Amino acid sequence: MAIKITGLGSYLPQHIMTNDAWREYVDTTDEWIYSHTGIKERRIANDEETTAYMSIQSAQAALNMAKVAPQNVDLIIVATATPDYLGFPATANLVQKALGAKGAASFDIRAACSGFVYALSTASTMLEGSKTMKHALVIGAEKLSSILNWHDRSTAILFGDGAGAVLLSKSESSDAGDILDFVLHSEGDVEALSRPQGGIKHPNASDITKTALHMDGARVYRFGVKILGELVEELNERNQLTLHDLDWVIPHQANARMIDALIERKSWPSEKFYVNIENKGNTSAASIPLALAQMYEEDKLQEGQKIFLVGFGAGLTWGGVYIKWSLQPELR
Ligand code: COA
Repeated sequence: MAIKITGLGSYLPQHIMTNDAWREYVDTTDEWIYSHTGIKERRIANDEETTAYMSIQSAQAALNMAKVAPQNVDLIIVATATPDYLGFPATANLVQKALGAKGAASFDIRAACSGFVYALSTASTMLEGSKTMKHALVIGAEKLSSILNWHDRSTAILFGDGAGAVLLSKSESSDAGDILDFVLHSEGDVEALSRPQGGIKHPNASDITKTALHMDGARVYRFGVKILGELVEELNERNQLTLHDLDWVIPHQANARMIDALIERKSWPSEKFYVNIENKGNTSAASIPLALAQMYEEDKLQEGQKIFLVGFGAGLTWGGVYIKWSLQPELR
């Protein structure tokens, strides 16, 4: 029995917002944003493009690639910090209904920017442990533009909207499958990153300067550089690997400068780190599946490649998944 990645899909809103367009809202420049973050533009969703809508589009694309009918999906997990409904139903419940995945289990995971890594680990473990489940959709989707303070230049310019999905399928194959290992961690911390608005502590918050996404940028930067390095080292040690054995490290796309700093600090080969933040911004739980989808489009993913997916974010949470790539381009 092996768990395989059999489908991959993504959805990006049509509207592109450049760094220059931010000047309508805050005192900034393209030069400042690019030099501090590596971002040039991001996608911003319109009213119809909710998190559920983008999840459905990316999930349908993953099912189409795998040629699996929605009725055969047994499990749907959506990782998101920006659900359509803050309480319930879960965004995954909306995806289940829209796809017609009759009777499938569906729930959301809230682990912010680590969400996709948490969801992939959970879905793979559930498929392995279940006697009946065969196909699981794992989706990372965010409409971060809806929770920003658009007048806070130190946070708003970082984020973008989008969704990415993978289909995991259980096969009778006797190989080890595509999900080879994972590590997940957390350390509760409200001060570093939070979004109080609408939660039961601030149910009717009107002052978004206090309750929109709040971030201690410098602290998160230091944490991110340190923890991404530790994740790569932890996965290497657990699997008797070195960076030279790996084909790709796909980090959560929070800030390109953060990834540069990590590579410089460790003297690691930069060509093994995939970075696509330039035209997407930080899309939180969507960033890793969107990177996978873009790499697939660019023919960068080949059979047998060893890949680490490593993420960190609010919570604080962090985690990594070691995968072997086996999805063939001719399936496209
Ligand atoms: N445009 C122009 N100037 C800006 C600006 C913007 N968009 N945002 C901040 N500044 C200014 C600040 O006001 C400050 O000015 P001052 O020196 O006059 O006070 C100056 O630039 C430096 O600000 P600072 O916050 O120290 O910048 P920084 O180099 O730390 O970069 C971040 C800020 C947010 C880019 C950086 O801290 C970061 O990326 N942190 C991690 C964020 C992250 O990844 N979050 C998500 C995790 S999942």
